[in-house]
Amino acid sequence: MHVRQRAAAKKPMWIILLLCLVCVVLIGAYVYPPHHYSQYYLSSSSVCTPSKDWHPRREKTDGREKTDEEIISAAVIRDILAMPMCMSKNPKIALMFLTPDSLPLEKLWEKFLQGHEGRYSIYVHASGQKPVHSSSLFVGRDIHSDAVEWGTISMIDAEKRLLANALEDADNQFFVLLSDSCVPLHSFDYVFNYLMGTSISFVDCFQDPGPHGNGRYFLEMLPEIEERDFRKGAQWFAITRRHALMILTDNLYYKKFKLYCKPADGRNCIADEHYLPTLFNMVDPGGIANWSVTHVDWSEGKWHPRSYAAANVSYDLLKDIKAVDENFHVTSDDKAICNFTHLK
Ligand SMILES: *[C@@H]1O[C@H](CO)[C@@H](O)[C@H](O)[C@H]1NC(C)=O
Ligand SMILES: *[C@@H]1O[C@H](CO)[C@@H](O)[C@H](O)[C@H]1NC(C)=O
Ligand SMILES: *[C@@H]1O[C@H](CO)[C@@H](O)[C@H](O)[C@H]1NC(C)=O
Repeated sequence: MHVRQRAAAKKPMWIILLLCLVCVVLIGAYVYPPHHYSQYYLSSSSVCTPSKDWHPRREKTDGREKTDEEIISAAVIRDILAMPMCMSKNPKIALMFLTPDSLPLEKLWEKFLQGHEGRYSIYVHASGQKPVHSSSLFVGRDIHSDAVEWGTISMIDAEKRLLANALEDADNQFFVLLSDSCVPLHSFDYVFNYLMGTSISFVDCFQDPGPHGNGRYFLEMLPEIEERDFRKGAQWFAITRRHALMILTDNLYYKKFKLYCKPADGRNCIADEHYLPTLFNMVDPGGIANWSVTHVDWSEGKWHPRSYAAANVSYDLLKDIKAVDENFHVTSDDKAICNFTHLK
């Protein structure tokens, strides 16, 4: 959720959110019962799920011989995706904040995290000024950061920097990307069990044949990335450890986006809206939910999602967002096909 008038918004929003602490918390994981959760969580000493079979979407390259890079990439990614999930007796979720500077809602996150020490870790990437922290939980959690320019590959680089730092802690099993204006909607336990109870990642992904989808595809991405592989999705992800590793090892597809997906070349390719959805669609389509646990309202059809100012944030708004049980994607062509997915 975006808060434009941040300084002004801080106080009133706070009070409202504290009043409804009961309902507070997850980053939007809506209200669905965690799938697979009881099956694994209750029957195992660990909250992790077992390893899974890996089924690449396309074994063949339609008669074309694979390049050296594709062979290397496929071999490495196959083994990463076959990794078992249970690698820690003390699993944690990594909360990775991507922010321009100070985080206005640290105190709220502190409430969310209270009493759950040892089950989470925090990382802050501030692309502008060094943040001033209002919560002790965030002190010392800034990682080495660099400038981030909207829409460019520098956004992906910042995400990779957060992932690399978070992967250093072997206990981190789920990696959640958050902005400075995200608020939790459910309790910590709910969020933790929801994420740890599944072996899929929550990455938004859909096919948009319109100008803001495939219209941003470049033929230079051939031969590895064909237009039919190209996907779109909102940026905020929550991913498993093996998917985090996979992103860091990918050089092949990353390079294509770095070279050809840029915001100011007439097609307005926004790297963070296409790189990960396309990568996952190509290497592990069954491994993602195709929607994100982070609620973002794109219904205004603008370049930025709907912003919530202090005056907009009410108990009813939070209740409404928690009640969302459908994810929808609208294509940017004349048909503007709206595809609803019921969230299980
Ligand atoms: C996500 O979409 C892909 C196809 O685009 C599909 O193969 C996959 O099963 C979907 N994921 C889930 C969890 O339904
Ligand atoms: C937020 O409140 C302002 C002022 O009341 C209003 O103009 C705007 O439409 C509201 N925005 C949303 C997302 O509800
Ligand atoms: C809508 O989404 C479902 C599930 O992801 C998919 O199978 C179907 O092809 C989509 N339909 C359109 C028109 O995009």
